[in-house]
Amino acid sequence: MAIADKTVLVTGANRGIGQALVADALRRGVKRVYAGTRQPLAHPDGRVTPLTLDLTNPAQIQAAAEQVEALDVLINNAGIWLYDDLSDRAMLEEHLAVNFYGTWGVTQAFLPLLTRSKGTIVNNVSLMALAALPLTPAYSISKAAAFSLTQSLRALLAVRGVRVHAVLTGPVDTDMTRGFDIPKASATSVARAILDGVEAGRRTSSPIPCPRPWPTAGAAARPRC
Ligand SMILES: NC(=O)c1ccc[n+]([C@@H]2O[C@H](COP(=O)([O-])OP(=O)(O)OC[C@H]3O[C@@H](n4cnc5c(N)ncnc54)[C@H](OP(=O)(O)O)[C@@H]3O)[C@@H](O)[C@H]2O)c1
Repeated sequence: MAIADKTVLVTGANRGIGQALVADALRRGVKRVYAGTRQPLAHPDGRVTPLTLDLTNPAQIQAAAEQVEALDVLINNAGIWLYDDLSDRAMLEEHLAVNFYGTWGVTQAFLPLLTRSKGTIVNNVSLMALAALPLTPAYSISKAAAFSLTQSLRALLAVRGVRVHAVLTGPVDTDMTRGFDIPKASATSVARAILDGVEAGRRTSSPIPCPRPWPTAGAAARPRC
């Protein structure tokens, strides 16, 4: 599916990968982008409609769904990543509330519109859904749950003509990973890879950072970063 002339909703649209997804959707000629944020957002492009959307607030999710008339692509992007050591149940619950139940709740609220359009759901999961990082185990657990949700929804929604796309992202240079001196992909390159994957109809995309220093294989072999 081409993003041009479509209607897209991005959660966590005010910074990081979400902000880059809004910019990339605009670049591809989207008709309208609903930018889901917790705080008020002003955007210079008239195609961007702000939507107040805290993933932990079911009433706000429902109110947001009632403001949207039509939707082709839902991008569940918002997420949290906090340090823990699995000793505190509240940390697990906080991660699950946003990364798992938030994704589930927004998906359920917008499913009637996506069914009508035979649209696409994109869940920005993480490579940590597959390989846990012991510094942030609650995050990994919540992302593993979100990935499992993604796989089940893909099977369950296929009969309605709704596609479900998983993004298994490696480290990205955003506020989330500030302070980590590791190779990271830019938010812009990840957003581009995600929407390329949606347009190509892929089930999964896995944007990962470019290796540094560059391999000697030559420019043609380099990934886009
Ligand atoms: N950065 C990475 O290395 C990386 C790697 C793999 C996957 N990811 C995933 O990519 C997604 C975006 O991450 P990012 O790197 O762009 O992070 P980020 O810069 O920290 O941005 C996180 C976004 O999520 C929003 N958010 C947090 N809690 C929310 C809630 N309860 N309701 C609604 N919005 C909420 C934030 O809004 P506020 O500004 O209001 O806090 C912000 O817009 C996340 O799901 C993350 O897990 C990131």
